[in-house]
Amino acid sequence: MTEFRLPKNSRISKGKHFPAADGVSNIRKFAVYRYDPSSDDNPRVDTYDVDMDNCGPMVLDALIKIKNEIDPTLTFRRSCREGICGSCAMNIDGGNTLACTRANDELKGDIKIYPLPHLPVVKDLVADLTNFYAQYASVKPWLQSRTPPPPDQERLQSKENQELINEPAACILCACCSTSCPSYWWNSDRYLGPAALLASYRWLVDSRDDATGERLDELEDPFKLYRCHTIMNCTQTCPKGLNPAKAIAETKKMMVERKH
Ligand code: SF4
Ligand code: SF4
Ligand code: FES
Repeated sequence: MTEFRLPKNSRISKGKHFPAADGVSNIRKFAVYRYDPSSDDNPRVDTYDVDMDNCGPMVLDALIKIKNEIDPTLTFRRSCREGICGSCAMNIDGGNTLACTRANDELKGDIKIYPLPHLPVVKDLVADLTNFYAQYASVKPWLQSRTPPPPDQERLQSKENQELINEPAACILCACCSTSCPSYWWNSDRYLGPAALLASYRWLVDSRDDATGERLDELEDPFKLYRCHTIMNCTQTCPKGLNPAKAIAETKKMMVERKH
């Protein structure tokens, strides 16, 4: 489980309590980070009593119920509700995960919900991912080929070669890994972080890509790649069960091997 860290603006005060309606007996408390940088001096934590007899099973269901029935000012991202889009990534009970795939029943006691740690907050549970996406774009996450495609078919791969990219290509860019990485917390301006490096690896091992040398040249830098100290938070927290730490280790190995 990721060590719990507060977001950057972390002087948090106790906020409002929204009690359940009379007669509701199966109550669960959700303590939710609230902050609007355009109007609030400091963040606060509001507490909502949710009627669990009339709530879906996932943390995202509870957040949607809070927004629809208790407090429409609460802001969070979500889209697919299926663990596919990555937009509902947040810090739930101290771990970065997807609200739509984390069941309320898996959590004990009051459920504490914060934005992804160590990022600027846009509003409430919405973290600013501008730098994260720029880092993703910086690894040129697209095919770079020197040869024209075959005229009558796709660029084919062997089964073995396809399996090399299968797992890294399953990343949904939720940012749970990068924002659980201590090296990324302290150097996110210069260290690419596990998500971007996993994306980089996905193209480094793609048999159809011809830019391996240039891609490795780009990573030859004291910060971009080598700030990973194999702490493994990234792999432990990934809600899709991916292994960015291994991809980073493999990339470092490719760097060494090409020098021999
Ligand atoms: S293994 Fe590397 S990328 Fe993953 S959490 Fe540790 S330092 Fe960060
Ligand atoms: S590697 Fe996992 S945690 Fe990281 S961005 Fe991709 S899906 Fe999310
Ligand atoms: S809403 Fe798409 S991953 Fe949760």
